[in-house]
Order: sequence, then C-alpha cells, then structure tokens
Amino acid sequence: MHDNNNLDHLFPTLADIPEQYRLGAPIEQREYLLNGELRRWEGPLAAVRSPVFLAGENGDEQVILGSTPLLDADAALAALDAAVAAYDHGQGLWPTLRVAERIQHVETFLARMREQREAVVKLLMWEIGKNLKDSEKEFDRTCDYIVDTIEALKELDRRSSRFELEQGTLGQIRRVPMGVALCMGPYNYPLNETFTTLIPALIMGNTVVFKPAKFGVLLIRPLLEAFRDSFPPGVINIIYGKGRDTVSALMASGKIDVFAFIGTHSGASDLKKLHPRPHRLRAALGLDAKNPGIVLPQVDLDNAVSEAVTGALSFNGQRCTALKILFVHEDVLQPFLDKFSARLATLKPGMPWEPGVALTPLPEPGKVDYLNGLLRDAVAKGANVINPGGGAHRQSFFYPALLSPVSANMRIYQEEQFGPLIPVVPYRDLKEVIDYVLHSDYGQQLSIFGNDPAQVGRLVDAFVNQVGRININAQCQRGPDTFPFNGRKNSAEGTLSVHDALRVFSIRTLVATKFQEDNKELVSEIIRNRESNFLTTDYIF
Ligand code: G3H
Repeated sequence: MHDNNNLDHLFPTLADIPEQYRLGAPIEQREYLLNGELRRWEGPLAAVRSPVFLAGENGDEQVILGSTPLLDADAALAALDAAVAAYDHGQGLWPTLRVAERIQHVETFLARMREQREAVVKLLMWEIGKNLKDSEKEFDRTCDYIVDTIEALKELDRRSSRFELEQGTLGQIRRVPMGVALCMGPYNYPLNETFTTLIPALIMGNTVVFKPAKFGVLLIRPLLEAFRDSFPPGVINIIYGKGRDTVSALMASGKIDVFAFIGTHSGASDLKKLHPRPHRLRAALGLDAKNPGIVLPQVDLDNAVSEAVTGALSFNGQRCTALKILFVHEDVLQPFLDKFSARLATLKPGMPWEPGVALTPLPEPGKVDYLNGLLRDAVAKGANVINPGGGAHRQSFFYPALLSPVSANMRIYQEEQFGPLIPVVPYRDLKEVIDYVLHSDYGQQLSIFGNDPAQVGRLVDAFVNQVGRININAQCQRGPDTFPFNGRKNSAEGTLSVHDALRVFSIRTLVATKFQEDNKELVSEIIRNRESNFLTTDYIF
C-alpha cells in the first residue's frame, strides 16, 4: 500500500533515474522527410516538454526533451507536392508496383524499425509518460500489426489472383490505391494508432504525408532514416508543426484523397470542411468517446471492479476506449465503491520506468487544472471523492479520484475527461442508463457487467444499434486488432481492423470482357507474357 496523499517524493532527482533510462543532451531535431531526403529546417522550432519533472533544490523542474521543426504552410505543401508527384495520377512507380514488391519494401522498413525499439520505447516514456511495460507493448503490438497487415494483404491478393465468370462476362477484380493519404495519429498511442493507418495506406500503394501527434513527436525521429531508405522518394513524407499552419493548407489544396485522423470530432470536422471537393475525400476517423460501464445488480463484483479499474485507469485513463462513466446499481453501490477504492489504492504512482508503476504524469499542459475543474464542479453539485487522496496533484501528476454520486447536472456526466477521474452514477431503473446511451453524442463501445442472462440479453439488444462493440464482463478495448474497431455518432467514421484498413485505403477496380474466343486469347497472352501488373494470376506465397 502506498501513501498516495503524499506526492512530495513523486518526482525523482537525476541521480534517482537508472542509467539506462536517462536521456542525454536535449535532442534538437531539424530534419523532416521530404521526397526521399532528410531536409534541414532552418526556421523556428517547438520545444518538446516532458510530463516528467526533476526534483531539485529550487523545486520541481520540467524536463525539456528537445525541439522539433515548426514547418510553415509552404514546407508542408512541398511535402504534399512530393507525394502528389510520387503518385503521379496513379502512374507512379509505387501505385503501379506489384503487390509482392510493395510488401518487400514494408518488410525492409519493419526490420529497420525493430532496430529502434529501445530508442522509441525510451522516448514513449519521456514524451507521454507511458510506463515501460505499456511502451514496450505499444512498440511490439505495432510490429505485430505490420506483420498481420502483410499477411492480410497476401491473402487479399491471393483471392484477387483468379478470374471470375458471371453471366458471360469474364472479370478480374483487384484493390487499387486511392491516391494521396494524409495520416495523423493521437498523442496517447503516437506510434501504434498512427501506424494502423500509415502502414495500410502505404502498402496499398498510396503515397503519404504523415504528421506526428501533438505529443510523442521526437519518438518518430529514430525511424526517419528507416522510412527514407525503405520507400521510393516521395512515397512517405513526414512533416512537423502546428496543424493550423500545415495540415489546414494540405486539406485546402484539395489534393488529399484519404484523410486518416485520430483526434477530436470537432478537429476532424474543421479539417474536412477545408477540402474544396469533399466528395473526393475519403475519411477514416477515430474520435471522441465516453464509454459507459454498466454494473447490474446480479454481478461478479470482483471481476467488475478489476475490469473497471483497468478500463478506467490504464495509461491514466488516456485511452479513447477507456471506461469514462460507470453506472452502478444501488444494490451493489457500496461494495462496488469499497472494492474499487481498495483496488485503486494498490496502483503505484511514479515515473514510467519504475517497476510496477501504474499511475504516471500527464503530458497535456493544463490537464491537471482541467481535471481539477471537473472534480470541483462535481463536488460542488453533491458528489464525494470516495478514495483517500483522490484528486491530489502535483505539477503534471493527478492522483485518480473516484466520484460518487454523479448526476446529470455535472460536467463530468457528459464531458470526456480523458484522464484519471472515475465518475460513478448510482441507478435503480435501467431506463436511466439506456436513455444515457441513446442520447449520448458518442457511440464507440460500452461494457456490461452482470450474470443474469435475461438482463444482459436485454441490454445487448438495447445497445447493438448504438455502439460499435459491446463488452460483456470485460473492459472496453480496441484489440484484438483483427476485430473491427469503429464507432457511431461523433465517435468514428469508417471501420479499422487489420483487414478493414486495407479496404479503407483502396478501391476495387474491375477489368472485364465478354467471354469469347478472341478476348480469352487476348487476356491469356497478356498474362502469359506478363504484359500487365494488374491482369495477372501470380500467387503470392
Ligand atoms: O485511444 C484509443 C485506442 O484505440 C485504444 O486502444 O483499447 O488497445 O487501448 P486500446
């Protein structure tokens, strides 16, 4: 058990940090990737601040990790021009390359990426405060995702390598790229979620402009050479800077064909509206969520608490899939709160590299004040902080607060806290819970905790048209990555999974002919003489 009220010794001195997790001098990054070259940016830079502070004689001091280029619109547009040229109206080397060859490029990249595991994991910890275990998991899961993507594409291509004969028409159907993709990821999974769109976009033959998330930017630096060396010039371009200076110009150019974005729905809408030809823009969006966990009166309470604690608090609640509001039946409210509170007290606060640490500092400036504001609003309107030390804070660290009873007039009832606040709404009538979900602006996932088949079955049916995934006696989550990941209402556009992402970044094209001798002979000759990359019966092993 830890004395969680006491955050006096939360931040380490430099000497407290084990040698292997220390960073050297601040990293001044001026490079960005444009048209197959690492260009040097001579303009202004943005400071990269760590959520970690160091304790010193003059109090806590925030660690400055380095700086990254603040590109302007012209530099961003130059990256776009490189992507447009590499695509070359679909005639470029990359979009016309055989699938097996594109796969080889991605495999080359993956091998180079794996060499950078240690550097990327270390930066994940320092830039976004993700603990060591989860940072390693993020890296490894991303590599697995790339391997699975390659396998899924091989499978897709094998199925397309045959001709189909329907009503006297012979056809071959293949998936071809969409054009130029703009890929932007979120700060909570700056590697994994970004790559779940970036890699499918590339492997399907699109050319890409990629802008890293607002935090978790330097961790892309160790991969720049791997990107440069693994793909033809212009196929992948990596830009840095403020969204309003860079991404807005890209969208306003009308030259983006696919927009892959993980962030807020208002940010996504603002950017989409800038595109002059919205009918030519395909979007894959992962957006806000306020996933509820619903605890029924007949329930395995220990399991519900265990899943709810992980669901609400892994990576300090900074997951789009986190459980962000809990509805608990009055019959089990008190034992639920007691057990939750006891479990929460076992979570260890500390620095990301410390063994067994679960609660870490938050990367967003102003986040602690925001969470504090939500907490004070709830308390002023009648909620109590149930757990000892709940809401204690120091600099960028906020100790989780379990709040109950939460009601509809509190901000935390609707706002997505994206942090370590756990609002509990006691209920007696399930109608209140069903109404919340029906009228919510969000529709990503929810969790039902209960063991009465009639009650669980009724709720499943009430919610299948509201959210993308219903979890029974389990927290909400994206994985396994082969399952569809999507959302309704303001929570998403499109579906991502290993299999679906390949489809998001491509379109089926059909080559068809009347099934008659001269055409059969023509097509056979094209295949036999390997006259076409599209019309082929090659089978990828
Ligand atoms: O931030 C949202 C992520 O997609 C959640 O993924 O459920 O694996 O944490 P996860």
